[in-house]
Amino acid sequence: MITLILFGPPGSGKGTQAANLVEKYGLLHISTGDLFRYEMKNDTPLGLKAKSYIEKGELVPDSVTIGMLKNKMDANKAVKGYILDGFPRTTPQAEALDELLASGRNEVTTLVALEVADDVLVQRLLGRAATSGRADDADVDIIKNRIEVYKEQTSVVAEYYGRSEKTAYVNGVGTIEEIGNRLGEAIDTFLA
Ligand code: AP5
Ligand code: MG
Repeated sequence: MITLILFGPPGSGKGTQAANLVEKYGLLHISTGDLFRYEMKNDTPLGLKAKSYIEKGELVPDSVTIGMLKNKMDANKAVKGYILDGFPRTTPQAEALDELLASGRNEVTTLVALEVADDVLVQRLLGRAATSGRADDADVDIIKNRIEVYKEQTSVVAEYYGRSEKTAYVNGVGTIEEIGNRLGEAIDTFLA
C-alpha cells in the first residue's frame, strides 16, 4: 500500500498536481478540503461545523478532521494506495494517520512538499477566486491568514516526517508539467 502526502501552502498546486499523480500511480485522491466543501454544499452537520473555520481561513478542529479522514479511508480499503492532499495539517493529525496506517501494517511512503513564495500564492488564489466560488479565496486578508496558519501550525508536519527521512521538497514554481516531473522524480526515489 502506497500513501503519498502531497504537502504545501494554500495555492501551491496540491489539487492540480494530485490530478496528474492519480493517473500516474493509480492511487485514490483524498482532499480534506474537497470533502469539507462537499459537506458544506449539502448543509450537513459536519459541513455546518466546518464552515465557520474555513470561511476565516482557520483549521477545522483535529477531532472533526481526523474522524472524517478515517471514515473516507475505511470506506476505501481495497485501493492500491492514497494521495493525501491537505492532510495531515497538524502534528496530532500526522500521529493519527500513522496509527491508522499501522493498524493495517502500513506506513506513509513519502511526504512531498511544494515550495512557492507567498506573493505567488496570493496572486494564484486571488486569480482563482473568480471561478472557484470559495469564500476563502475572495478576500486577500483571509488568504494571508491561511498562509500564516500554514506556517504556524502546518509546516511542522514536514519536519515530523523529515525525522524519518520521508520528506522531499520540490520547487512548486514553473509549468504544471515541469512540477509534475519534479514530483514524479522525488516520489520514485521512495518507491524504488
Ligand atoms: P484546502 O482545500 O486543502 O485548501 P488549501 O490548502 O488552502 O489549498 P488550495 O486548495 O487553495 O490550493 P492547492 O495547493 O490545492 O492549489 P491548486 O492546485 O488548487 O483547505 C481549505 C480549508 O479547509 C482550510 O483552510 C481549512 O479550513 C480546511 N481544512 C482542509 N483540510 C484540513 C485539515 N487537514 N485540517 C484542518 N482543516 C482543514 O492551485 C491553486 C491555483 O493556482 C489554481 O487556480 C491553479 O490553477 C493555479 N496553479 C496551480 N499550479 C500552477 C502553476 N504551476 N503555475 C501557475 N498557476 C498554478
Ligand atoms: Mg486544493
